Amino acid sequence: MATERTLSIIKPDATKRNLTGKINAKFEEAGLRIVAQKRIHLTKAQAGEFYKVHAERPFYDELCDFMASAPVVVQVLEGESAIAKNREVMGATNPADADAGTIRAEFAESVGENSVHGSDAPETAAEEIAYFFAGLEIVG
Ligand code: CMP
Repeated sequence: MATERTLSIIKPDATKRNLTGKINAKFEEAGLRIVAQKRIHLTKAQAGEFYKVHAERPFYDELCDFMASAPVVVQVLEGESAIAKNREVMGATNPADADAGTIRAEFAESVGENSVHGSDAPETAAEEIAYFFAGLEIVG
């Protein structure tokens, strides 16, 4: 096992309902450290660039509109196997499939408005972190 970093986004449905602290508590209880964090309001173009891997999916336009609809909190989480651990803490993409106690089971509203995003692999984590943060902004 190795210490890793992963990119997390607390999405508009969650920031609108003032859930940032409750979601951060889930990360910290699981042993993940928040080593960088900022609240920003993405433009649709910035959301589109972040999610460009999904550009051909039928939900892409809706996803980009949603991500630009209100502020998000972007974060770098650090810990042992942080990428997989964060995905466990988040739960399945569709909250209907998410295990009890996970962020999406407790807070997500739908598959589209599912409260959090987390990187899915080391390569995407590195790319996604670099999209939002300069190295000097990450303090482990
Ligand atoms: P996320 O982990 O941020 O990665 C891509 C996002 O696309 C995903 O979470 C969902 O929010 C969204 N998504 C996936 N499937 C659908 C769908 N069928 N309809 C709307 N949004 C979706």
